[in-house]
Amino acid sequence: MWGGRFAEGPSAIMREINASIPFDKALWRQDIAASKAHVAMLGAQGIVSAEDAATISGGLDQVAAEYEVSGVPENWDLEDIHMTTESRLAELVGPAAGRLHTARSRNDQVATDFRLWVRDAMDQADAGLEALQKALVIRADEHTASIMPGFTHLQTAQPVTLGHHLMAYYEMAGRDRSRFADARARMNRSPLGAAALAGTGFPIDRHMTARALGFDGPTANSLDSVSDRDFALDYLMAASQCALHLSRLAEEFIIWASQPFGFVRLPDALSTGSSIMPQKKNPDAAELVRGHSGRIVGCLTSLMITMKGLPLAYSKDMQDDKPPVFEAAGLLTLCLAAMTGMVEQTTFRTDRMRAAAELGYATATDLADWLVRQANIPFREAHHITGSAVKLAESRGVALDQLALDDLTAIDPRIDERVYAALSVEASVAARASYGGTAPEQVSERVAEARRALGLA
Ligand code: ARG
Repeated sequence: MWGGRFAEGPSAIMREINASIPFDKALWRQDIAASKAHVAMLGAQGIVSAEDAATISGGLDQVAAEYEVSGVPENWDLEDIHMTTESRLAELVGPAAGRLHTARSRNDQVATDFRLWVRDAMDQADAGLEALQKALVIRADEHTASIMPGFTHLQTAQPVTLGHHLMAYYEMAGRDRSRFADARARMNRSPLGAAALAGTGFPIDRHMTARALGFDGPTANSLDSVSDRDFALDYLMAASQCALHLSRLAEEFIIWASQPFGFVRLPDALSTGSSIMPQKKNPDAAELVRGHSGRIVGCLTSLMITMKGLPLAYSKDMQDDKPPVFEAAGLLTLCLAAMTGMVEQTTFRTDRMRAAAELGYATATDLADWLVRQANIPFREAHHITGSAVKLAESRGVALDQLALDDLTAIDPRIDERVYAALSVEASVAARASYGGTAPEQVSERVAEARRALGLA
């Protein structure tokens, strides 16, 4: 390609370290689309003849058809997808192929291809998140009134409903979708035509190529256009945040599936057995989602560190931008699918959850709240009185509502028999009807809104 300047070919080491074709062949569809947009514009602007433009465009279609059938050939001498395609084009259509690279460089070419690829990955993440949201909403709808213990510090805190718990992840997935959407809107500008770094002297029409590739318009600064990888970092940041959410959900399923909890039976299809312990059913898919989330964050770190010291404009370090993005996208798609399946197919053991909610004095706050409401006692004092009741119940090994009225009035004479109605777990969740609270009626309203937002009947 640059034999005019060089007397000798590259060493074997140079060929190997330089070659990006082993991974950037994944960009072939984007590379063909961008080249077709470019050559159509060169033709329309009279920069190449209409005849040559048609020849090149037809040749590109032929190359694409070959790739589709046989894959992209991997020849390190051709370095990357751009040179591989151009070289095959030359074999197919002859000297006209040499006009394709007029008024562009591989620097704007790779920036364009990669943007198109990342834009698709953002759309794919959105679709995966939407599927997860649907699964969460459908299961939450089944369990708007199923009671489980709510935890803080993983200690029993207050009873909540399972539907409420699942809807918390619906909210997280919604924020993840908005992060991908923000990133997509910000990145949707075409760098094509920035050429090597300074723009070009040919009378190109960057608006035309931007339109043809579905961009909102061209980027405004040629130096920035070829050196910007913010869009890839934005993708990886959104992917990392999403992966953290999936990891937390996976962690919940792992805890819930453990024998002491026994809140769920995981689907066989997403579990494995043990080679030695016949009774085991391990939550491997959830554990791998938790593990993969670390790798996705690693991909973000990798590209941040690649970019942090680079002066304008393009540097070859940037060739390393693709592997972490490709890796993260593959992992994220898999993790989203695994957690969606987990949510859809898990059996929730609501009897076990309900029983666990009875333990750990989960309704102690309800006793304190009752004292505030019925006896007009300041909350701090009510908290203290309730603490004494819990201490007594604990010493007897009984639940709060199993203490006799005499025992309660001995702690504070302002307590009367109406208090028992407030101490059940049902009463506790029903009472928490503040907007966004765990009361079944609140959860049902949020579920109904979510169903509408997702277009679920
Ligand atoms: N394979 C290169 C990459 O992925 C293409 C751009 C090469 N540009 C250059 N000036 N060597 O970044």
